[in-house]
Amino acid sequence: MNKSMNEVKNHFLGNSLEAMDYIELENRYGLSIYPKRNCVIVKGSGARVVDSTGREYIDCVGGHGVASVGHANQMVIDAIMEQVERLMVCSGTFYNDKRALLMEKLVGLAPSTIKRVYLCNSGAEAIEAAIKFARFSTGKKEFICASRGFHGRTMGALSATHNPTYKEEFQPLVPGFHFVPFNKIIELQTAVETHPDIAGIILEPVQGEGGVNIGNADYFKQVRELCFRKNILFIVDEVQTGFCRTGKMFGIEHFDVEPDMMCFAKAVGGGIPIGGVLCSDKIEMVPGKHGSTFGGNPLSCAAALGAIKFMQEQRLDVQAAEKGEFLLCKLNEISSPRIRDIRGMGLMIGIELKEKVKPVIEELLNRGILTLPSGTTVLRLLPPLVIEYKDLEIVINEIKDVLK
Ligand SMILES: Cc1ncc(COP(=O)(O)O)c(C=O)c1O
Repeated sequence: MNKSMNEVKNHFLGNSLEAMDYIELENRYGLSIYPKRNCVIVKGSGARVVDSTGREYIDCVGGHGVASVGHANQMVIDAIMEQVERLMVCSGTFYNDKRALLMEKLVGLAPSTIKRVYLCNSGAEAIEAAIKFARFSTGKKEFICASRGFHGRTMGALSATHNPTYKEEFQPLVPGFHFVPFNKIIELQTAVETHPDIAGIILEPVQGEGGVNIGNADYFKQVRELCFRKNILFIVDEVQTGFCRTGKMFGIEHFDVEPDMMCFAKAVGGGIPIGGVLCSDKIEMVPGKHGSTFGGNPLSCAAALGAIKFMQEQRLDVQAAEKGEFLLCKLNEISSPRIRDIRGMGLMIGIELKEKVKPVIEELLNRGILTLPSGTTVLRLLPPLVIEYKDLEIVINEIKDVLK
């Protein structure tokens, strides 16, 4: 069916198209980038979203971990509405009230070694910036990253990402990235000895895309020590783990170590795109060497101030810790020969199956639960941290039924 622009416009005037029409339009005009599910989401509130037919779902995808404060969060809406009418654009070459306040807030939330922040628009951009800051500040060129680590899809971030299937058609990538097994200090020490030009080590506190693999506290402490000894920057990717997801404001707080750089994005904007890099005093930059037109724009800064205020007032860190414990405990009661392992930190949960996870995700979608994969065999849950216990019970029962 070929829809004209007029027909599409009619939608905005109130004549809604059918679900199949939107699917048809996206399939025809959108570049084929994502594996799609036949569900047209049109609105959301808290941990629930609604499709174009009016059907409601419990959202354990949360925009891939973005919707921590919940869909249509009133504090974020109010902050955005107020800012929309005042100022939406302000180049980084001028000062801005909301940007200044957000910078102060972000540095105040971070571990005490963190003194400054750079603002951009996404996770991959934050990683790109961290790579440049590390090279500029150390004069060294190479990096060590972890097997199964994921840091984004742009060329630098992709170079730091492990999964070869994401990379093979896009070579040559940025040279100088080496990979070692996650949570294994001996292999990391050997890599540092073998490569004398390491500027930084980049790790996620919990590997999200790579299978919900939880970092080991002793390992992270030893990495910190190694970085001190070898004059290497310790760069932590908090894009998925940051802003209360794991039960603390930042995932790294579980390990009691202080990184030199922390990359963040996703949840901080309450749904509005914003990312950044929190930096210690070891990071030096000079004007003219990096930048981003939209980075630190007043609208995203206002949204982030609203989202963080909500996180702090509602103690979303505590909520994530308690709800995560409840979910893990209940999931562990499921007796199914199809489950290999269940693991998680806060509301970042992975259920590793002994089979491919895709059919399970499809079946849960049919039952009104949105979930996502992590690799090919792990069912991942990243619900808004405001999810209610009664919705968590529904999720648990449906997963139990599907895996029985
Ligand atoms: C740990 C981690 N780093 C970086 C990224 C890239 O973020 P973005 O998709 O905003 O570029 C992601 C995205 O899922 C991520 O999980």
